[in-house]
Amino acid sequence: MFDINIDESLPKAVFYKELSAQLESLLYGERDLICNAAQLSAFIMQSVPDLNWAGFYFSRGQELVLGPYVGKVACPRIPLTKGVCGAAATTKTVQRVADVHQFPGHIACDGDTRSELVFPIFDGGALIGVLDLDSPVKDRFDEEDQLGVGQFVEIFVKSTDFNWSIGAF
Ligand code: SME
Repeated sequence: MFDINIDESLPKAVFYKELSAQLESLLYGERDLICNAAQLSAFIMQSVPDLNWAGFYFSRGQELVLGPYVGKVACPRIPLTKGVCGAAATTKTVQRVADVHQFPGHIACDGDTRSELVFPIFDGGALIGVLDLDSPVKDRFDEEDQLGVGQFVEIFVKSTDFNWSIGAF
């Protein structure tokens, strides 16, 4: 069993540094894309407070297709031109949205979601997909959350083999 031990009252930079060390241990020795994406989704939901959804969409042509996640059932496909996830994929930049109701084209998979933090994921120069964190709290994510979860993304990318080759992958 893998326990995540974290004190939520720590300063955020320390909180994320400690979590990053625990994520390194969790992913150590495993390079499978689906496995590591599932683990990171669950790790985030278990450790980062005030979230209602965390998970992946993978790049498939002109769409993003739902991957491993923890949360309520979600939209299976997102066109690259739509939503916060589509914006992260097309602009290749992190999207931090304080109020999704003010974001044109936001896709409401879960009506409880108020703010989002979405990271594009790259293997070298190639877009693999996005990591999406949703919160029911307006303006939930700040710069330190972006930096902290950004460290999780770096650990995930260096720990994972993206030459996954079954079916549509
Ligand atoms: N809200 C996202 C869609 C994905 S779900 O929230 C899980 C968006 O607008 O990109």
